[in-house]
Amino acid sequence: MTELKNDRFLKALAREPVDRTPIWMMRQAGRYLPEYRASRAKAGSFMDLCTNPDMACEVTMQPLERYPLDAAILFSDILTIPDAMGLGLYFETGEGPRFRKTVRTEAEVSALEIPDVNTSLDYVMKAVSTIRGELNGRVPLIGFSGSPWTLATYMVEGGSSKDFRRLKAMIYDQPEIAHQLLDKLAQTVTAYLNAQILSGAQAVQIFDTWGGALSASAYEEFSLSYMRQIVSGLIREHEGRKVPVILFTKNGGLWLEQMADTGCDALGLDWTINIGDARRRVGDRVALQGNMDPAVLYASPQTIRKEVKKILTDFGDHPGHIFNLGHGITPEVDPEHAKAFIEAVVEFG
Ligand code: CP3
Repeated sequence: MTELKNDRFLKALAREPVDRTPIWMMRQAGRYLPEYRASRAKAGSFMDLCTNPDMACEVTMQPLERYPLDAAILFSDILTIPDAMGLGLYFETGEGPRFRKTVRTEAEVSALEIPDVNTSLDYVMKAVSTIRGELNGRVPLIGFSGSPWTLATYMVEGGSSKDFRRLKAMIYDQPEIAHQLLDKLAQTVTAYLNAQILSGAQAVQIFDTWGGALSASAYEEFSLSYMRQIVSGLIREHEGRKVPVILFTKNGGLWLEQMADTGCDALGLDWTINIGDARRRVGDRVALQGNMDPAVLYASPQTIRKEVKKILTDFGDHPGHIFNLGHGITPEVDPEHAKAFIEAVVEFG
């Protein structure tokens, strides 16, 4: 087993002291990078990139070649799970993800099969082990999955949605059907993340992008309880190291205490909450990851540096901070601005 040359990301997740605040960016391998756009054109489509382990490895490495990042994240997508469940994922240019089949009725939910992740999602596990080989201990590799709730929004609505009206009608009118769907997803996500860990993922993040659209009680019942179930089913130690779990609920600032009580190691924060307040609320239970507004990257490098300093000051002199954006970097960002951001964290962190 190759030794990790840079473990400040894992140390910060364990709330151990580090020489400086570690940093990575959600969607760090993406369309803002010209080399990503070139690889995607060469692969043919986004799904061709994801399903080819060598291509997935190539794009995972691209941001690390440019910037002093402290972690790599598997290049894939959260929607590989519904695809493996037979829904037929495809990407319409400029329109985001779509499914050929949806899951809306009791019969459709009952018929849904829990996939064998080691066969139908074998390409993801191959990508993880290929990336680990290529990284050769340079930085740790993060694996990930969508939360059951977030995956269900795409499966029921058939793609992206503004109001989640079909799934929301289901949780209010037919909660037992929604629970059956979410339970199948939680079982699949647990197996999927465990397979990624066994293939070499050294930390995992659960993306609950749409949990923040729920009421407080519906969030507990339809999103958080399934993430808690997943956290308790995960392999927490591998290759002689702890495998930390990060929960990220976008717009979840109201529920940090409950999230911290799931047994996870860290919370991902969006930019709507002050990170110092968040730290005071969760105390020493979990590390915090975040939380600069990704739109700051449209501003000048001087402004970006000021915003970085502000977040570092707000967090204060405590262990357990991983710098990140509050959501994914957007395609319109100038790679030079991403550089100014990352270098500011390296300088001031
Ligand atoms: O962070 C990384 O660099 C790892 C790769 C990653 C992707 N998607 C690549 C991607 C990760 C972690 C995701 C997670 C994901 N995917 C989420 C949760 C996080 C979030 O951003 O909220 C969600 C909701 C999805 C679903 C998804 N995939 C959508 C809605 C879209 C299209 C929207 C868009 O930005 O156009 C995707 C496509 C996608 N996933 C792209 C990338 C780089 C763009 C595809 C392309 O190249 O055209």
